[in-house]
Amino acid sequence: MLIRELRLLNFRNYRTLDLTLDPSVNILVGNNAQGKTNILEAIYLLAMGRSFRAARDSDMIAHDQSYSLVSGQVTTEATHTLELVLRRDGPKRFRFNKKDLPHRQFVGVFNVVLFTPDDLYLVKGSPGERRRFLDWEISQVSAGYRSLLLDYYKVLQHRNSLMKTIAFENQDPKMLEIWDQQLIELGSRLMAIRATMIHKLGLLSRLMHRQISDGKEELTLRYVPFFAADHQDTDYDYQSIKRKFSEALVSARSLELRRGYSLVGPHRDDFQFLIDGLDVKTFGSQGQQRTAVLACRLAELEYMKSETGSFPTILLDDVTSELDQQRKHFLLKLLTKKIQTVITTTNISDFEPDLAVDAKVFQVNAGQVQEGR
Ligand SMILES: Nc1ncnc2c1ncn2[C@@H]1O[C@H](COP(=O)(O)OP(=O)(O)O)[C@@H](O)[C@H]1O
Ligand SMILES: [Mg+2]
Repeated sequence: MLIRELRLLNFRNYRTLDLTLDPSVNILVGNNAQGKTNILEAIYLLAMGRSFRAARDSDMIAHDQSYSLVSGQVTTEATHTLELVLRRDGPKRFRFNKKDLPHRQFVGVFNVVLFTPDDLYLVKGSPGERRRFLDWEISQVSAGYRSLLLDYYKVLQHRNSLMKTIAFENQDPKMLEIWDQQLIELGSRLMAIRATMIHKLGLLSRLMHRQISDGKEELTLRYVPFFAADHQDTDYDYQSIKRKFSEALVSARSLELRRGYSLVGPHRDDFQFLIDGLDVKTFGSQGQQRTAVLACRLAELEYMKSETGSFPTILLDDVTSELDQQRKHFLLKLLTKKIQTVITTTNISDFEPDLAVDAKVFQVNAGQVQEGR
């Protein structure tokens, strides 16, 4: 899977940009605030349909413009054109080979894995941030999961508004039953997929981690479903999830009705990184946390390859500034020419001599890009 052409119009600090990327290693070099990360953001948009850093879509439109266009030629089995239009006065639009598509179908045509200096959030961040990570990773490789997720949240919303009506207008709680059934049904399917994904990603992460830490430590990922925060249980198939979900819903009933919203369900899930059985979030050193996150990102590459049949494009934003020699060395060693990579850096010598020799190098300067060293 690769991206060959990237075109931008009125995107961030780019008035126009027309970039031909190399199928293997691309390095974007430039000082701070010149527009390097903006290019990664645009590529990421073509994969995910949303930004990894903009709070609002309109933040990405060039300041004095009313819309922006991001388009890319991506090659999967065939070559396709992906386009995304951001507008100040309306929702963003997605096009695949010149035809409009809903967001949920746009995601997954082209896949990326992004490494950023902020990745520590995966370990240190809130459960919500980890859930978002899970949902977006799985969504990239599974259209079924994307639909399920949207359906689940729709049911959750209906159930919440009904619960408010019941709580504040004294309606009959029996009205909830039909929504309960759907919540359990969709939620349990969602959770079974999450459990399987974390299991696979965990095995791959462990292998990666063994190599980075010279086999001295053992990394595991543990799914923590909303109903099992204190348990060691790891057997999460659909039927057992469904049973526990139903039980949890019954126990939560009276509190839910008093509060007027849903307290149980996969919108309360989490997962943990454990090193030698201990939660890295609480007990890990900064170094262990970084290694765990790096192992997990590298595992994502293999995970996507195994789910889709091809490696995603790797986006590396300024990562060498955050990694020590050993981790840096390990990461760069893995970046073979087989996988397309787009790297940003302020200092190309970070990638010399190994990686930079054959790489396509671009100089980024105030929203202008020039090929060459
Ligand atoms: N919506 C926007 N319109 C115009 N310029 C923008 C917009 N958003 C960000 N920028 C500019 O983009 C630059 C930052 O780009 P970025 O890619 O983050 O830099 P870096 O090269 O450090 O990665 C800054 O100069 C900022 O002012
Ligand atoms: Mg940057």
